[in-house]
Amino acid sequence: MLRDPAVFSSNIEDGKFRFLIGVDSMLFADGPPHIAERNKIAPAFSPSMFPLYFEGLRATTERFWERLAEDTNSKALKLDPELRKFYMGITIELTTGVSADSELSERVRNLFMGFLDGIVGPTFGPWWDRTVRQRAEIVEILTAIINNKLVNEADIIEQLRLNIQEHGTVRNVKSLLENGADILQVVLAGLPLKTGPNQTHDPEEFRKLVDLLLLLWGAGFFTTAATTSCGVFEMGVDTNIMQRLVVEQDEIVMQAGSTQLQYEQLEKMPLLDSYLYEIMRLYPAGNGIMRMVEKDVVLLGKKVTKGTMLFFDLQAALRDEDIYPNAVTLVRDRFMKKQDGGLEARKALVFGGQGSPHFCVGAALARLMMKTNLVTLLRHYRIELDPKQTKKYRLLPDYSPASEVVVNTIAKRT
Ligand code: HEM
Repeated sequence: MLRDPAVFSSNIEDGKFRFLIGVDSMLFADGPPHIAERNKIAPAFSPSMFPLYFEGLRATTERFWERLAEDTNSKALKLDPELRKFYMGITIELTTGVSADSELSERVRNLFMGFLDGIVGPTFGPWWDRTVRQRAEIVEILTAIINNKLVNEADIIEQLRLNIQEHGTVRNVKSLLENGADILQVVLAGLPLKTGPNQTHDPEEFRKLVDLLLLLWGAGFFTTAATTSCGVFEMGVDTNIMQRLVVEQDEIVMQAGSTQLQYEQLEKMPLLDSYLYEIMRLYPAGNGIMRMVEKDVVLLGKKVTKGTMLFFDLQAALRDEDIYPNAVTLVRDRFMKKQDGGLEARKALVFGGQGSPHFCVGAALARLMMKTNLVTLLRHYRIELDPKQTKKYRLLPDYSPASEVVVNTIAKRT
């Protein structure tokens, strides 16, 4: 019943939210319109693209921790705001190809952060006017980025287009995309847009594409930033956890005999994987799922009338003792027990639930970004948190440590 859009649809709000995120965003759609929107980005999330995204991700992540290590030579810093900026930058980079270290990225990042603040404000007065202006400016920049790609990356887009036509998704593209890749290139390849100079394009197609990118940015950065903040915080206060994670990744590196982190190595770190799932379970960044009730129903013995907006509390579900024994405790290897038949379903809940049509489209990318980030930290640095922090969490705007994770030292491991 929960997955039947005739009973609980995603048609959750009209007006403000729709205007800001996009009137026909996949977030508010069900059935064929929803499938059509998801299909646009499906090839960009195919497994053969991930090693290509990883190359750029690794380099940007290494630079991020290097800079923070330098900064902590002179002062303690709050990690959470740094992680938010980092994940916003890397999400823009992975989705559009705009380098996280560029001035353009910084401008877009600032605009987008301001725009997100506007989402929670009133829909009138100077606050709202500013939000609308910020959105318009982001749309203008994104439109220019898309146009630029269609002209200057025409060859790559056309080759990807042939690849998608042949395979229905992208396959064997490593040699084609030697210099890395971004999600927008693949999405453009799947759309009926002409490449090359002096082309005119359907403005509707452009509008939907811009809205899609805004959705990926909005959904992608605060979730990964908050989860990583919690992950670093918990391993910082319990150094046993950190030590075991360090040992796991050291062993993988030694086995491989490599000095630089390789994509394949990330798949061989079950403890890190389990730890991240456990962090997302205990401190879910997306702490609920909204649905509209489309017809009168009885739910847990209570009558719920048509037109009611429901919030399914993911946080309560993820701390249900019947599903997760010892639910309020962080059990770092909870998700390693392979003999446990229900494991995959329980892991999937953090990303919206197994079989849900709205299951997080960015789940694999999120795991890749967060694992690359934590492994880079564990592998190259020794991190010490300020011991005076209390282990308090805040619930809004997302589930993260109230202290914002004060770090005293990030020193190079010898
Ligand atoms: C820790 C990281 C993340 C968590 C915990 C998370 C969680 C979720 C959850 C629970 C949903 C389901 C919402 C619903 O059913 O209404 C969802 C949907 C979604 N997520 Fe994520 N997410 C994460 C990262 C990302 C990333 C990195 C991206 C993309 C760059 C992304 C893009 C999306 C999109 C587009 C949807 C809507 C899918 C649809 O409506 O079909 N997420 N996410």
